[in-house]
Amino acid sequence: MAVNLIGRDYITTQEWTKAELETALKLAAELKRKKQKNIPHRLLVDKTVFLFFFDKSTRTRNSFEAGITQLGGHGHFIDASTSQIAHGESPKDMGIILSSYGHGIAIRHDLVPGEGNSYMREVAKYATIPVFNMQCDVDHPFQTLADLMTIREHFGDNLKGKKIAVSWAYAPSYAKPMSVPQGLITLMTRYGMQVTLAHPPEFKLMPDQIELAKKNAAENGGKFEIVDSMEAAFENADVVYPKSWGIMELFGRPEEALKIAANYKKWICDERMMALAKKKAIYMHCLPADRGNEVTDAVIDGPQSMVYPEAENRLHTCKAIMALTMADPKKTRSKKRR
Ligand code: CP
Repeated sequence: MAVNLIGRDYITTQEWTKAELETALKLAAELKRKKQKNIPHRLLVDKTVFLFFFDKSTRTRNSFEAGITQLGGHGHFIDASTSQIAHGESPKDMGIILSSYGHGIAIRHDLVPGEGNSYMREVAKYATIPVFNMQCDVDHPFQTLADLMTIREHFGDNLKGKKIAVSWAYAPSYAKPMSVPQGLITLMTRYGMQVTLAHPPEFKLMPDQIELAKKNAAENGGKFEIVDSMEAAFENADVVYPKSWGIMELFGRPEEALKIAANYKKWICDERMMALAKKKAIYMHCLPADRGNEVTDAVIDGPQSMVYPEAENRLHTCKAIMALTMADPKKTRSKKRR
């Protein structure tokens, strides 16, 4: 059955049905093939997407900017700190006004638990064009869709029974958002995977996201468990995804979180750890990775590492979501201005 996604927001993967996600993955694979063969695919000619960043980025910014260019449109990069948002301009005004200028609004607002997701929902409430979550406090849906694409490219579409270890890892660089592990445990459980989450006691994820992962596993024949060591999570895993994140209550005081994290320097993905997973297991990371802390060079540069195909798939999935949602607004715009 054809799925019409024109005008839709993409704020969490959970709000898209599996049929809708499947449509995006199918188009992403097609756009990947076209890009590799230099076949033009200008599906969004003269369309504009506004890219608001409250935080730094390499992959997300560049996959959106390159992606919209390849689709025939244009991306405006906006550093939130140099826009009127910094003077308190409301999400309502932004949603309404930018809807009259362009065709999509993308927002990264990921470092303050309780804020980013609510902020983009407020913009979306008033926008008449799609709103995209480029990473919030809850989810990073462009990342996890690219991760799903990467895992399926490697293992095939049926992931039932495959084990993914989503583990905390030590990183001294900064208190990284919780949205990637949360996005992974909630999405991969929908695909029947056995999801094992591991973290030190202080690094709990949001309780509602844990409950959602449990519910998704129960409804989709998956499994979800929480363990207290990277070793236990890696045991017999097909996919390992060790990465750092901060402490929910301490995002306002990141130096305190980093001090606590320093007690867990042994949470590093090295060859000894990889040996606990299946022989053909793959190593994934959304990047940037703290080399020498979250992961050794031998692993991230080794034969099991998928980080570069994974990062490349950010481009193809991003283009697919934009192409499906931003097309032809006059005929199909489904959202109403309030
Ligand atoms: N993985 C990811 O979102 O990368 P950036 O932070 O560089 O955008």
